[in-house]
Amino acid sequence: MKIAVLPGDGIGTEIVAEAVKVLNVLELPLELEEAVVGGAAYAAQGHPLPDSTLQLAKDADAVLFGAVGDWQYDKLERSLRPEQAILGLRKHLGLFANLRPALCYEQLTHASSLKPELVAGLDILIIRELTGDIYFGQPRGRRTAVDGHFPGAEEAFDTMRYSRPEIERIAHVAFQAARRRGKKVTSVDKANVLETFQFWKDVVTEVHAQYPDVELEHMYVDNAAMQLVKAPKKFDVVVTGNMFGDILSDEAAMLTGSIGMLPSASLDANNKGLYEPSHGSAPDIAGKGVANPLATILSAAMMLRYTLAQPEAADRIESAVRAVLAAGLRTPDIYSDGTRKVGTREMGDAVVAAITGKTITG
Ligand code: IPM
Ligand code: MN
Repeated sequence: MKIAVLPGDGIGTEIVAEAVKVLNVLELPLELEEAVVGGAAYAAQGHPLPDSTLQLAKDADAVLFGAVGDWQYDKLERSLRPEQAILGLRKHLGLFANLRPALCYEQLTHASSLKPELVAGLDILIIRELTGDIYFGQPRGRRTAVDGHFPGAEEAFDTMRYSRPEIERIAHVAFQAARRRGKKVTSVDKANVLETFQFWKDVVTEVHAQYPDVELEHMYVDNAAMQLVKAPKKFDVVVTGNMFGDILSDEAAMLTGSIGMLPSASLDANNKGLYEPSHGSAPDIAGKGVANPLATILSAAMMLRYTLAQPEAADRIESAVRAVLAAGLRTPDIYSDGTRKVGTREMGDAVVAAITGKTITG
């Protein structure tokens, strides 16, 4: 099984190194090959997603991705910015289904900004459509306005669009995921204003007819943002478009205490996938050895489960993460009184120790 390892920028290199360490102790027939991506690739090869990196990702069974982005590249023209690397990988690999679980670990209930009783036992799965919507719709650009409030003025525009097959396939992913979980899907839209999302709602409703055992509710995105902080445990699977999913998944992640805990999977139609933490490159803490590697380590577990068909190995990683949390080890993002503050590497070592059966000292 071949895995393309793309650490990227900022804390990406530090956290991916820990996930690689964890994969290496599992004694599985994994072949890991690393390549540059994002700002690091621009600096080394003049492009955020060099052909060689894209080819490696295409040839691999799965991609383990860190994070991309750094302030120093913000002034580059859009096509050369680090973010284009992840957008390009999603598009070129056809990774249309983004699974972002928001799970509140028992030991971290108090790390949430919400009252503990609101988040204790929280287990939501956000399913974000990842290759359509206003992120990729054409045309887009800048021009001189011919109408609107200020004819003759400079203006910018993007295109929000979804086709029926794009909505159908992500709806199937959501209903099938719900079948394995709490049997409820909340489809988030803005059907009261946007034609694209009235269509979304109509198509999701049609697909639902094939899943009578799953409950479907529709919710406007503004209300969903509110309900997520009011009563998050009422959600099971949330399915939505690319942009709403981007926003709501950050919100849901924070309910669990730290975005540093949350993995994600981006899958194509054959469950081939790219696995990355839900958080970004965090340039403010890069190189300091304090980033939480658990989201990336848990992403490696998702990779073993979804793409590499190694559920036992995934279980071993997830149990090890629970064990280090139970032992009281905390990176600064999840630290609280009475726990032990550790750095990125120490956290990775502790997960390795838990997997290999050595004792962890709390
Ligand atoms: C994410 C990120 C990306 C997105 C950026 C880096 C392009 O925010 O994966 O959520 O907007 O999809
Ligand atoms: Mn995002």
